[in-house]
Amino acid sequence: MAKINRLTPRLANQIAAGEVVERPASVVKELLENSLDAGATRLDIDVEDGGIKLIRIRDNGGGVEQDDLPLTIARHATSKIRDLDDLEGVATLGFRGEALASISSVSRLSLTSSPDGTGAGWKVQAEGRDMESVIAPAAHSQGTTVEVRDLFFNTPARRKFLRTDKTEFNHLEEVVKRLALSHFTVGFTLRHNQRIVHALKPATDDAEQDRRVGSLCGSNFVANAVRVDTQTPGLRLWGWLGLPTFSRSQADLQYFFVNGRSVRDKVVNHAVRQAYQDVMYHGRHAAYVLFLELDPKGVDVNVHPTKHEVRFRESRQVHDFLFRTLHRAIAELTPADAQPQPALATLTASSAPAVRGIEAGEFREQTRLHLPPQAATPAWQVRETMQAYQRLHPEPVESNALTSSSLFGTQAGAALAPQSLPEEDGDIPPLGFALAQLHGIYILAQNRDGLVLVDMHAAHERITYERLKTSWDEEKIRSQPLLVPHSMAVSSREADFAEEQSDLFRRLGFELERMGPETLLIRELPILLRNANVEQLVRDVLSDVVAEGNSQRIDNVLNELLATMACHGSVRANRKLTLPEMNALLRDMEITERSGQCNHGRPTWVPMSLTDLDKLFLRGR
Ligand SMILES: Nc1ncnc2c1ncn2[C@@H]1O[C@H](COP(=O)(O)OP(=O)(O)OP(=O)(O)O)[C@@H](O)[C@H]1O
Ligand SMILES: [Mg+2]
Repeated sequence: MAKINRLTPRLANQIAAGEVVERPASVVKELLENSLDAGATRLDIDVEDGGIKLIRIRDNGGGVEQDDLPLTIARHATSKIRDLDDLEGVATLGFRGEALASISSVSRLSLTSSPDGTGAGWKVQAEGRDMESVIAPAAHSQGTTVEVRDLFFNTPARRKFLRTDKTEFNHLEEVVKRLALSHFTVGFTLRHNQRIVHALKPATDDAEQDRRVGSLCGSNFVANAVRVDTQTPGLRLWGWLGLPTFSRSQADLQYFFVNGRSVRDKVVNHAVRQAYQDVMYHGRHAAYVLFLELDPKGVDVNVHPTKHEVRFRESRQVHDFLFRTLHRAIAELTPADAQPQPALATLTASSAPAVRGIEAGEFREQTRLHLPPQAATPAWQVRETMQAYQRLHPEPVESNALTSSSLFGTQAGAALAPQSLPEEDGDIPPLGFALAQLHGIYILAQNRDGLVLVDMHAAHERITYERLKTSWDEEKIRSQPLLVPHSMAVSSREADFAEEQSDLFRRLGFELERMGPETLLIRELPILLRNANVEQLVRDVLSDVVAEGNSQRIDNVLNELLATMACHGSVRANRKLTLPEMNALLRDMEITERSGQCNHGRPTWVPMSLTDLDKLFLRGR
């Protein structure tokens, strides 16, 4: 064995720096966290050349006493914890006592500070291999300034891994963004090469918070998000939840904070993804800015040196709370809440054709820019109106056999002509009354603000799906016998399955009977799917069931199965609807959870106010 050498303090610090100081962004994160821990309410961040040449952060926090100054850049020295017990419930962002020592070992760092308002302060720097700290008097108002120059100048291997100034700055800006989102009451300015990139005033009320989120995440996001705030004993979740129709192709607008700390966490991700599952097109990503608050003792932050990961002591409970809260909030987005911004509002007549062919999501992301958020009717209000309406017009009695071709025979209001509905201003329902059907695809309706366009297939599919889910949960998907049982040819494997799983099929509302080795007789269908092509429907459900193999697995994909069924039961394009049928569909949408999006996350309706229409025709200019 070679002789054992003691590492110089600088080298030991440089090795430790490998864990936390990856690039300029990590320096900024550590310095800002220190300032926030010191109670600063103003933070000025100056950066040159992506932070590689210079990072200077000035705060107005508590500052450091002269005696303590050398300790700030010494390793394993911290004012934030004293013993292991403190580590149990860390309430500060820092606690390791390593950051400044690490940064100082791989750059030219100085810290100038004053604990009072006298204007006199001290400056500390580390020198040589032993990182001897040198202090000297320096003028400074109350607070601290840390300057970090020439990052990695003495560790060329590290420096090689840095990217362009622009890329490094983007990472750095992302760090500032996260901290600005989690510290609303602190003012931030960020300058890059003397140019102001962000100037954020402290945000105290809701409107100012909206403004800050808007300037960091885009006003488009705020216009397409709802506020949530839910509390149970020991847990609170609040923030901005993007509408499912505001989904993105990247997971780049997902901010989650635990006690003010930005984290990436599997438990959190899983709960959020599950909550959105039913309303999000495959491969699309939700957008959100959410804050979870809980007793610091309930979460371990000492999992990873960069503190990006946490461990919840009661992770099951946290998961359930997140899932339940978000799932509920998303379900409650009825048309009145989720006022989609008018798709045509920013288009002029001449630019309209150019947007054809753009994928639905992108189309809206682009065209909804710069629109003021609309005043939305609260969901409960819509629901109450609709409940009153239903009390006045109870469901017509159902006939017991599939004789009628009526689409909405079992639904509220179907028998009413539109003229008989109340017309005074106060009583116009959010989605208004139907005027006509366009090319067998869209319903045109008039509400108080103007025109409403509804994709009738998408809307009906969602309504049918939600009903199937509710009925399944209540174990009563109602079925109806066919007047003439329908016989169909299947493979013997499918016939076997239909026989073995007859119970499952019965729960789904089907009565299937095996007539021969490769023949099934369909006797009953779910009432909700009375208009489906019988054979196609059974074939698809059967193939879903066969693909899953057994009934335990079926439970996992039950929603997909119900979605398949809903798709078959829904009104097809080119189907003529009467006005009462269209109105019935609109009323159903108003009372159905998640009805603002189809089963794939696309919008089911789009409003166009009179103002939007006036703009299209250049009226009033
Ligand atoms: N901006 C600041 N204002 C006041 N005190 C500061 C500031 N920055 C650092 N300090 C003091 O210097 C100490 C060391 O800072 P450092 O970042 O190295 O460690 P830490 O924040 O305690 O823990 P961690 O390594 O987890 O960040 C802090 O505990 C704090 O007392
Ligand atoms: Mg620190």
